[in-house]
Amino acid sequence: MSKKIFSGVQPTGNLHLGNYLGAIKNFVDLNNDEQNECIFCVVDLHAITIKQDKDELKNNIRETAATFIASGIDPGRSIIFNQSKVYAHAEGSWILSCMAPMGWLNRMTQFKEKAGKDKEKASVGLYIYPILMASDILLYDATHVPVGEDQKQHLELTRDIAQKFNKDFDCEDFLKAPEPLIKKNFSRIMSLKDGLKKMSKSDPSDLSRINLTDTKDEIINKIKKAKTDSFPIPNEDQKLKDRPEAENLLGIYSSILDQTLNKTLEEFGGKNFSDLKSQLADVLSSKISPISDEIKKLINDYEYLDKILAEGAGKAEEIAGKKILEMKKIIGF
Ligand code: AMP
Ligand code: TRP
Repeated sequence: MSKKIFSGVQPTGNLHLGNYLGAIKNFVDLNNDEQNECIFCVVDLHAITIKQDKDELKNNIRETAATFIASGIDPGRSIIFNQSKVYAHAEGSWILSCMAPMGWLNRMTQFKEKAGKDKEKASVGLYIYPILMASDILLYDATHVPVGEDQKQHLELTRDIAQKFNKDFDCEDFLKAPEPLIKKNFSRIMSLKDGLKKMSKSDPSDLSRINLTDTKDEIINKIKKAKTDSFPIPNEDQKLKDRPEAENLLGIYSSILDQTLNKTLEEFGGKNFSDLKSQLADVLSSKISPISDEIKKLINDYEYLDKILAEGAGKAEEIAGKKILEMKKIIGF
């Protein structure tokens, strides 16, 4: 069955292995299936929910687009654009924010994590961030949304908002409730320094993550320094309980090679972490450093990247512009 795919990544710098294995690698697989219509958005309006430096933001928008392309998304086949270029996203977000009850937003765990202890100081934008995400998805009638595990709750909210809009305005099936596409096993890649913390752009320690722009030597060094425990690698996955760092490294190895955890355990069961680390460093550097080299090449080609983004915005505008007009008609404008 053909799928309409929409997903977004924030241009906030330091795209890492978690972004790649949790999201971008799936984007590439979906892009490669000719039956799919894919749209990949650099969500710059989401990025400004947290203060950004103007020049860095500009660079990060280009770098995120370059990362999509360097990872294997073909701009000839998929639409790549940045969100702020298509006005319908912000307009749709306002309309949906007037439909969505505050109680639904109060349950969002990502807001609680990102706002931290001092919620009063968090921006209103950060609070209504999931509504903008719903607008992104619903404007394109997306059927499937590939994301990492941390976005699951936002997708459930998107489905609820779509259903409420259709019911409130008696327009059955106008907004399409999308299905999440979340990898079953490796949808949460953890920090290399703490197996209980998500690998994240904002972790102050660069050793906690493999950046998609890291060199071979940096990758090898980070894997060498990754936290482990002092037991040998087990043969069965049940024995990984309470060993988050071991589980994470074995998960990364399995995910990058597209193999099951059991297959990886067959390979390494009974061995020491030094064996796993040297193999993992080899595999990661052979898969990630070509992407890194390509990003560094593309990032200097402003003309090419800006052309891809402008063409993508034109195509996105055609789809979203139509949908927002229908939406406005439905609500009485
Ligand atoms: P963001 O950088 O927050 O815009 O995230 C872009 C995509 O990467 C989303 O689909 C996230 O769910 C995914 N992602 C971010 N961090 C991780 C992680 N540590 N493990 C798996 N997926 C992740
Ligand atoms: N909120 C997502 C994240 O932080 C990014 C995002 C914005 C997104 N709009 C989207 C993802 C629409 C999928 C679909 O990762």
